[in-house]
This record gives sequence, structure tokens and C-alpha cells, in this order.
Amino acid sequence: MKSLFYSHFFILLPWILIVIIMIDIDTKRTVRRTTNFYLSRFSKPQRTFLPTIYAITPTYRRAVQKAELTRLSNTFRLVPSFHWIVVEDSNARTELVSRFLARSGLQYTHLYVPTPRRYKRPGMPRATEQRNAALGWLRTHRSPKDSGVVFFADDDNTYSVELFDEMRTTQRVSVWPVGLVGGRRYERPLVDKGRVVGWYTGWKANRPFPIDMAGFAVNLQVVLRSPRALFKRLGSKPGMQESDFLKQITRVDELEPRAANCTQVLVWHTRTEKVNLGNERWKDSVQIEV
Ligand SMILES: *[C@@H]1O[C@H](CO)[C@@H](O)[C@H](O)[C@H]1NC(C)=O
Repeated sequence: MKSLFYSHFFILLPWILIVIIMIDIDTKRTVRRTTNFYLSRFSKPQRTFLPTIYAITPTYRRAVQKAELTRLSNTFRLVPSFHWIVVEDSNARTELVSRFLARSGLQYTHLYVPTPRRYKRPGMPRATEQRNAALGWLRTHRSPKDSGVVFFADDDNTYSVELFDEMRTTQRVSVWPVGLVGGRRYERPLVDKGRVVGWYTGWKANRPFPIDMAGFAVNLQVVLRSPRALFKRLGSKPGMQESDFLKQITRVDELEPRAANCTQVLVWHTRTEKVNLGNERWKDSVQIEV
């Protein structure tokens, strides 16, 4: 009986070893494949040449400002060849934003321009002066030999790292869906045979470009070649900023669809809830930046 067991055991042993070795090889291969995926996405030295992405972020002092900027910077640090243009709505650079940017590890330009008081009313378009200041900076500090892509990255959105891979190849103006906007789960350009042919939108569908600020990017050279293309105050209504700007630089049939022909959502208009600060009567004994 015992000898029968041993003879079976020794016949089976080599097969068991072979199976164990094969499983081991397969696991190693999977690990290597996963590692390569992350290396190719996130390691900077592998990239030889990439157009710079200039993300323009208007911002203003409020309770959630640092939290919003932190969410953005944590994403932006994963994007190679990236330049953040932060424009404060203020009379000077604030300490909070200056310190924040200096510690961010990002390449950045820190600008400021106050919104004139007469425009600080509900029903007025927002961040017009700040976006125009950033466009002005690009037009004076970049030249026809610089390659880049300009993107308006408001600080109340959430951005996927993949979005920046998509916009990097923008020749003129590229477009994609935006999540949680216009009273819908998403809005998107409708695409047929690689061309934009219409819009899935819940709001003011008759705008020439019914698209959110986070739904398009512009090649840097297009910005430089159209020096008068700016965001307008006069005659512009809320929600018309994007259309008024895009009308000056492109046509609908020239738009370049991204994100799998506009079928993936890679950016969300999240909007942070207004914070309740109703319990601040007793002040802390130290002052902490929030
Ligand atoms: C987009 O559509 C065009 C034309 O139908 C097609 O050639 C292309 O492969 C599509 N792109 C993607 C990423 O699905």
C-alpha cells in the first residue's frame, strides 16, 4: 500500500513542479505588463518630445480655495510637460496662493488681475479678465517656435490624467464630453465619421458652440495667430463666453473630436458644496491656513 502511494507520488511530482513554475512565470509577466503601463504613462524621461500643455486656472479667495487647488495640483503633477497659469482675482498675489504654488513642484506662472467691481454681480460672466490676462501672457512670452496646447482648467472641476493625453495632439481646436453639466449627466459633441455634426446639450442649444469651458483645448499657435481673440465682457452673457471665444478662432466643421470620438467623459464639473462656517464664534488660539 505504502509503496503504491510513493510510486504515484513520484510520477505526479514533476507535473506538479511544472504547473507551479508556469503559474510563477505568468504572474511575473502580468506584473511586468502592469509596471510598463504605469511607467509609460507616468515616467517623464521616456517622453522625448511633447508639446507643453498650458492650463489656465482663474481663482479667487474663498473657504474651499486651497482644497480645490490641491485637487487640481495632485492631478497636474502626473502630467508630463505641463505649465500651470494661475490667475488670481485680486489686487495682488495672495500669500496663500504664492506659497501653495511654490510648494507644488509644478512649472507655473502666477498672475493676478482684479475683476472691476461693476462686473461683480450675479448674471455677469465670471473670470473674463483673468482668462484674458493668461492669454496676454502667452502672447508676450511665447513665440511661433514654441509648441503647446492651451486649456481652460477652472478650479471647480475634476480632471482625469488621460484627458491631457487626448488634448496633447490638438492641431487647432479639439473637443470632448464634459460630465455633470448643463442639467445632465454629461454634454458632448455629436460625432459622425470623425467630424462634429451637432451637440448633445441640455441648455441654450442654439449657441454656436454649446460647450463648457472644460470641453475644449486650443493649439498655442492658434492663440498666437489670433491676437485679438479674447473673452468678451460687452454683449456677452453667462454661458456665452465659450461660444464668443471659439467663434473668433474656429468653425464647427474644423473641430477635432477626442476621447474616442466624444464617447468618454474624462472631466467633470464637480463643484464643491458651499461650506457651512456658522460655528466659528470661538476662535482657535493659533492661526492655521486652510
Ligand atoms: C472615430 O471615428 C472615425 C471615423 O468613423 C474612425 O476612423 C476612428 O477610428 C474613430 N476613433 C476612435 C478613437 O474611435
